[in-house]
Amino acid sequence: MTLRTHTCGQLRRTEIGQRVHLMGWVQRRRDHGSLLFIDLRDRFGVTQVVFNAERNPVAHQNAHALRGEYVVAVSGIVAPRPEGSANPDLSTGAIEVLADSIEILNEAKTPPFMIEDEADVTEALRLKYRYLDLRRPKMQRFLELRHRVTQHVRAFLNAERFLEIETPILTKSTPEGARDYLVPSRVNPGCFFALPQSPQLFKQVLMVSGADRYYQIARCFRDEDLRNDRQPEFTQIDLEMSFVDREQVLSVVERLISHVCREAAGVELKIPFPRMTYQDAVGRYGSDKPDLRFEMLLHDLSGFATQTEFKVFREAVAKGGIVKALIVPGGSAITRTRIDALGETAKSFGAKGLAWVKITADGKLDSVIAKFLDAKQLLKAVPEAKPGDLLLCVADQPKVAHDVLGRLRLLLGDELKLIDPTLWRPVWVLEFPLLEYDQEAKRYVFVHNPFAAPFDEDVALLDSAPLRARAKAYDLVLNGNEIGGGSIRNHRSEVQLKILDLLGIKKEQAREKFGFLLDALDYGAPPHGGIAFGLDRLVMLLGGADSIRDVIAFPKTQKAQCPMTDAPSPVTPEQLKELSIKLDKLD
Ligand code: AMO
Ligand code: AMP
Repeated sequence: MTLRTHTCGQLRRTEIGQRVHLMGWVQRRRDHGSLLFIDLRDRFGVTQVVFNAERNPVAHQNAHALRGEYVVAVSGIVAPRPEGSANPDLSTGAIEVLADSIEILNEAKTPPFMIEDEADVTEALRLKYRYLDLRRPKMQRFLELRHRVTQHVRAFLNAERFLEIETPILTKSTPEGARDYLVPSRVNPGCFFALPQSPQLFKQVLMVSGADRYYQIARCFRDEDLRNDRQPEFTQIDLEMSFVDREQVLSVVERLISHVCREAAGVELKIPFPRMTYQDAVGRYGSDKPDLRFEMLLHDLSGFATQTEFKVFREAVAKGGIVKALIVPGGSAITRTRIDALGETAKSFGAKGLAWVKITADGKLDSVIAKFLDAKQLLKAVPEAKPGDLLLCVADQPKVAHDVLGRLRLLLGDELKLIDPTLWRPVWVLEFPLLEYDQEAKRYVFVHNPFAAPFDEDVALLDSAPLRARAKAYDLVLNGNEIGGGSIRNHRSEVQLKILDLLGIKKEQAREKFGFLLDALDYGAPPHGGIAFGLDRLVMLLGGADSIRDVIAFPKTQKAQCPMTDAPSPVTPEQLKELSIKLDKLD
């Protein structure tokens, strides 16, 4: 076998006249009688190969055996394409290779779908034949982008004197809030490892070890409900630093992310990134991951609500709730049918209803509830509302009102084309509350993770009003996606124990769960903090992919399965016995 001299993306006018050997897959074959063309593809591009019956009858004859996805080696001479047939969309579009010989290195069955970017194919089929799916140029571009992102992360952090350190995959449960994947231990019957939800505890221990600056491109495992931006197995760009405060972490991270976005994807993010408090994000955007690419904000109507005759509003506030309005600019043009449908959507999001008010050109109110509302007072309460706008209002507990309107905001932003897809809008969300009260479980739960430190001035609140304590936590949001989150940690065990206690994790339980961390804190833990980025999410955004699954070589389906390998799958009774595991009867 003659080795290849060039890739399929390499030849230009400069090589005209040279003899070359190419290898690749047959993308397409076009038979024009005495001329037969194939497009030869590899990772680097596509080259047009011409078999001319007059020039080389044997090669021309042999080329008839070629089919899509056959693997071939071609030998020939580089020639300019005939006048008018150059293809400016192709890097090799100025030339073609006049073939003198063709060797079939391997045949291929007819693939179940076309190996093209816009192939009409279900995701299930793509995942079953992932090796074919990944041959598509678009998927190759995602793989390359992901590679570039990780390489630039490493280069940047290495230059900043971070150490790349691996942490265990077979470990103890890490409390990031999801369910664990468990792995039985054969040699310790009845005992299980947990796969890490993140390297959180180990990276903190590494700070106690004096590693000072750690990073890892870390695989994490979370058994949670899957969405387009969530996988059970995903990758974090995880880092931790010693002797730092929040500002230092934010500053390193801004430089890291803007460097990576620029170098890997040509995306410019201006630093410093804007900042927003959690309260503002939720109150004005209805989300802790606000999409700043468009305005259209939420406004508080609770004050107004107490004075109206509209019972729904008045009673909601009387019950400790709020009334919030989303101002849809120019929204009075939206039809009644559509508004009713939005009401149904709001209900599916958890609202009890969706009150709507159109503001007419002469500043009057057009609404089924107009008779209960005083136009002057309403417009005074929301001076931002202009004639022609539509107000969509939800009266409920703050969490519901914000969540529903936040989701309607995104939906309408998209529908009304308010989002400029060329914009990149990062924002830090800061000042998260340390704790939240879970009404169902009737206890405090952490908002970020249980290791975030409270603001220094809020430590006393842990005793008096824990819900008011703010955490030194931060999320980085890009175009409405949470791409990273982290915090300054509790480096003293007494504060850490107090927070765990508030979370209902008593001393003994804390010792049992992460005693090693608490012990380590007692042996001279430096002040430290860090962050983790969702690598998959970042690549998805930078690549413009629709789903996180597109930027992971071998992802799982929404049902946490791999159609290619058929994992997860049953195991033999012998295997279970070896692990001392008995299964319940499955239906
Ligand atoms: P957190 O849980 O916020 O923080 O995770 C960090 C980032 O990881 C991404 N991410 C996910 N991506 C894909 N699929 C998932 N199931 C998934 N879950 C999370 C998100 C998120 O912002 N140990 C802390 C970090 C720290 O405090 O340093 C942690 O894991 O982009
Ligand atoms: P009703 O009094 O239930 O007929 O509701 C009158 C209007 O108020 C309807 O348009 C409802 O969708 C709306 N509505 C009902 N409950 C709420 C609520 N909690 N928040 C906002 N609007 C509501």
